[in-house]
Amino acid sequence: MIDLKVRRIPFDFEGVDFIWNKNNPEFAITMNKLSFFAIGFEKYICQAMRDAEPLITDPRVLQEARDFRAQEGLHSSAHRKHCKALIAQTPALQSALDRCIALYDELYEAEPLKYHLAYTGGLESIFTPSFKLMLDHKEHLFNGDARVASLLLWHFCEEIEHRSSGLMVYDHVYGNYWYRVSRFKGFMAHVGKVIGAITEEFGKAFPELSPELLNGNSNFKMPFVAKMKSAFGITMSQMPWHNPEHQPLPKYFDEWSGIYDSGADVTRVFGEGSTTGQPLAVAA
Ligand SMILES: [Fe+2]
Ligand SMILES: [Fe+2]
Repeated sequence: MIDLKVRRIPFDFEGVDFIWNKNNPEFAITMNKLSFFAIGFEKYICQAMRDAEPLITDPRVLQEARDFRAQEGLHSSAHRKHCKALIAQTPALQSALDRCIALYDELYEAEPLKYHLAYTGGLESIFTPSFKLMLDHKEHLFNGDARVASLLLWHFCEEIEHRSSGLMVYDHVYGNYWYRVSRFKGFMAHVGKVIGAITEEFGKAFPELSPELLNGNSNFKMPFVAKMKSAFGITMSQMPWHNPEHQPLPKYFDEWSGIYDSGADVTRVFGEGSTTGQPLAVAA
């Protein structure tokens, strides 16, 4: 068990560009989709964790569930700040946020708590191999506006930090492996539906964007071996013996944690306009 830190970071995104990384516009758009997605998904996780709390009998699991919810709540509100800054410039983007939240609210109404905890645990366990792939190649992906890059780097590092929490809570409360894994495809289909709705609204808000830009993930092509390792990690994360605590972690996780612990400004930790190494009081 890892002690989770609840970090309140004063992100600001006023006037931020939709294409916040001109070096990799496809990646900028993909991460904007993730920003809208995170608001609905993490609100859903927080609801599930809150409803699970009365069913948790082990105080250590209860503490983990509470800290996990606190981290996810802060992620959701930081992404909301980012999306609000985009919506302020392009009001048509509001419908991307509304549809995302509505799809998660509908799911919460339609399914039982067991399903929501399984969805949370299943999805959270694929994040470490996915985000490791991105963090290991951050020079090619996050080399844009430091404010958005730093939001994502913080979020991905905390996802890695709390990589065990979702599964821990599901296993403690329900612990039925087959129930969870047999629904994994359905969870991913739901994620696909939400991302599809966000993409559709992005297309309406920016009709000038080519389908290649709107649907391409990145103009940097990941090295084949790294991609295969990540895909292998994702497959392994769904196996019954999987323990997220034993997963390979990106080097950047320790680096980012060290920067944070030093008191430096992590709202501009990497990218254009980065002030890494500056104490927060000086950067403010
Ligand atoms: Fe998160
Ligand atoms: Fe998470």
